[in-house]
Amino acid sequence: MAKIIVDAQAARAIGKGAMIVFKKGVVRVEGTIKPGDIVEVYTRGGKFLGKGFANPNSNIMVRIVTKDKDVEINKDLFKERIKKANEYRKKVLKYTNVYRMVYGEADYLPGLIVDRFNDIASLQISSAGMERFKLDVAEAIMEVEPEIETVFEKNTGRSRRREGLPEIERVLLGKEKYRTIIEEGKAKFIVDMRGQKTGFFLDQRENRLALEKWINPGDRVLDVFTYTGGFAIHAAIAGADEVIAIDKSPRAIETAKENAKLNGVEDKIKFIVGSAFEEMEKLQKKGEKFDVVILDPPAFVQHEKDLKPGMRAYFNVNFAGLNLVKDGGIFVTCSCSQHVDLQMFKDMIIAAGAKAGKFLKMLEPYRTQAPDHPILMASKDTEYLKCLFLYVENMR
Ligand SMILES: C[S@@+](CC[C@H](N)C(=O)[O-])C[C@H]1O[C@@H](n2cnc3c(N)ncnc32)[C@H](O)[C@@H]1O
Repeated sequence: MAKIIVDAQAARAIGKGAMIVFKKGVVRVEGTIKPGDIVEVYTRGGKFLGKGFANPNSNIMVRIVTKDKDVEINKDLFKERIKKANEYRKKVLKYTNVYRMVYGEADYLPGLIVDRFNDIASLQISSAGMERFKLDVAEAIMEVEPEIETVFEKNTGRSRRREGLPEIERVLLGKEKYRTIIEEGKAKFIVDMRGQKTGFFLDQRENRLALEKWINPGDRVLDVFTYTGGFAIHAAIAGADEVIAIDKSPRAIETAKENAKLNGVEDKIKFIVGSAFEEMEKLQKKGEKFDVVILDPPAFVQHEKDLKPGMRAYFNVNFAGLNLVKDGGIFVTCSCSQHVDLQMFKDMIIAAGAKAGKFLKMLEPYRTQAPDHPILMASKDTEYLKCLFLYVENMR
């Protein structure tokens, strides 16, 4: 087995609980490695730090799976960890049949994400090592949760391409099934595994539910980047009279319309397929104002090198959004970019508020991703979602 020797900084990070070794922390490689090989990680002084999956072509050179030299990386280990992750969601967090079952390194399963939607598990693999074990993983999921009859693999997207993995979207194991209906509070949503991510953005569940208490009967609401109608449908159920929901994906909006019907709120929501920037500009030109505006954009900063243009995009979209909120209205703004930390996000909103001439007050403590996407204290990479609920007043 090849050995990866890391510098003191990387060794310290692993000692504190990090499960990732970045290329920049690697001092040398002893032996040859191919993507997906199992390797051992050592300090310069020869101390064993962990064992995991290597990918010489990726910026993340090793994803540590175990810190115990004697533990074998095999199906039994994955099953034990999936079982533990599943129990955490059910026994500690009290989720029942819809939840993120596995969240990568936060569940000591680097490169693996599994979302459960009733009897379907939708998985995403982003490491060459985990890819080798995907059938074992699918079998383990069904053994741990026998109610799951389908394991769908949603193996698409940038992270796959970065690891040099092919893009695949299909039922990996079990019944050919792609769709199910889930419940979220009083709302119901169709989840189609062939949609974006694993099919649904479970990370915003608690934030969508939190929106309901801030909606007053008769409100006008704008939900920008609505996907399949998430925040918009909760707003309509909570009593909003008129909701405008925008997304650039025609497929997402088609499902959003089905979701509105499913919840009996189709008369309250107007869906628009279009660019958020252009549609918000049109609304502003018409002088439209809303009691509540929600912005949940895609990650504008995918890599650290994109910080500058990405932060500009956040600023522009937030400035446009703030201009559409009534004096005394509510602004819900989110960022799912892992490279943008809370302080950067706050600084951006403060700047957008100042330019728009608005005072901003926090209505709720800082919100983040749902707890079934656990934040591993020692790993900055596991914390990504920021969501602020703000009260907006005009500066005079
Ligand atoms: C993070 S998701 C939103 C999730 C949604 N709020 C929910 O609760 O399910 C981001 C959405 O933005 C959409 N999107 C990306 N770029 C866009 C753009 N320029 N204009 C409008 N929508 C865009 C994507 O299609 C995706 O549905």
